[in-house]
Amino acid sequence: MSRTREWRGAGGPEVWDRRAASYHRQLRLERHAVRAALELLAPQPNERLLDAGAGTGEALRQLARARDRPRAVTAVDFSPRMLARLPGLPIGWTSELADLREIPRPDASFDAAIASYVLHLLPSRDLPVALSELRRVLRPGGRLVTVTPAVPPSGLARRVAAVLERAAWASPVHLGGLHALDPHAALAAAGFSARTVRWNVSGYPSLCVLSTR
Ligand SMILES: C[S@@+](CC[C@H](N)C(=O)[O-])C[C@H]1O[C@@H](n2cnc3c(N)ncnc32)[C@H](O)[C@@H]1O
Repeated sequence: MSRTREWRGAGGPEVWDRRAASYHRQLRLERHAVRAALELLAPQPNERLLDAGAGTGEALRQLARARDRPRAVTAVDFSPRMLARLPGLPIGWTSELADLREIPRPDASFDAAIASYVLHLLPSRDLPVALSELRRVLRPGGRLVTVTPAVPPSGLARRVAAVLERAAWASPVHLGGLHALDPHAALAAAGFSARTVRWNVSGYPSLCVLSTR
């Protein structure tokens, strides 16, 4: 679990295409953290929301059930088979095959964005690129909430997370989804200001960070 080794990432779209069915079956392990992240983000009905690395749509499902859900939501992901498992989307919500390193939207297209369980998958060198893209497509003052597996400061969850982290380094393509990332430094370097942090230890030990641009 060397901190000096370079994280080479958890694989490209073909890896996620292969994983789509099994990924969908483990969603309950991330559900609490995604809910906590959406509470922090608190998207309003008149806001344009980006779901970055939407996967099979856990955040979209939770958002769609909200009484005051946003009218305009764009879900992007680079895996066609993950996107194929999205739920039916409400009118005004769209999905698109796209890479977070080059988001096909003009500057300031969104008021808020969620990136849940995706930033920790990116190779270290690509993380600043994706964060800079997220910053570009958010309007000034726009909000970004991130969810990443992380190692809590103490408690049993800390020991569990440390085991998961070792497994991720041992087999990045199969278990890279468990790789721990505290995104604070990368967020600050990309020009985000962290506002609120919430730990979640139901399911994967995870860190939710709400930042503003
Ligand atoms: C672990 S899943 C998380 C999905 C969803 N956000 C959730 O919380 O359930 C990660 C998703 O990010 C996507 N992904 C990874 N790297 C990406 C990139 N560079 N651009 C777009 N999507 C990416 C994968 O295809 C996969 O669907």
